Amino acid sequence: MKKLIFPFLALLAGAAGAAECNLDKGQKTFANKCGICHVAVAGAPHTVGPNLHGVYGREPGKADGFNYSAALAAKQGAWDETRLDAFLTSPNTAVPGTAMPFQGLKSPVERQNLICFLQTLK
Ligand code: HEC
Repeated sequence: MKKLIFPFLALLAGAAGAAECNLDKGQKTFANKCGICHVAVAGAPHTVGPNLHGVYGREPGKADGFNYSAALAAKQGAWDETRLDAFLTSPNTAVPGTAMPFQGLKSPVERQNLICFLQTLK
């Protein structure tokens, strides 16, 4: 059953596209699951994790003044949908050795909405 359901969900998430993402839900997920460690306000100090304002489209490990793990500091390639989706699915699989203590978001739709929200933080 799992094998049947998962591709179906992946297809749904892919088909949803950026136009159909729900920013309110993305913002709520951010508040509930990321806000404990991240702020996302321009110029605000870093907390447990780096301030995520402007993270979309930026190279990993580049927020000024945050002390990143060697693993994240060495990661190449600007944060886009694909890279954020992989990282938020399983931080430690996407970036082995990352210091982000988060187990990942299982729901493709929840990740999609969250990534849409991150894109607005410019
Ligand atoms: C328990 C604390 C914690 C939680 C919860 C958490 N993070 Fe993080 N996050 C971190 C830390 C610490 C880092 C830096 C990791 C490193 O240096 O390897 C990080 C790094 C990141 C980065 C890379 C930033 C950059 O400048 O390259 C992104 C993107 C990110 N987190 C997004 C999220 C999102 C979205 C959520 C919510 C689903 C989340 N994080 C939940 C602590 C957390």
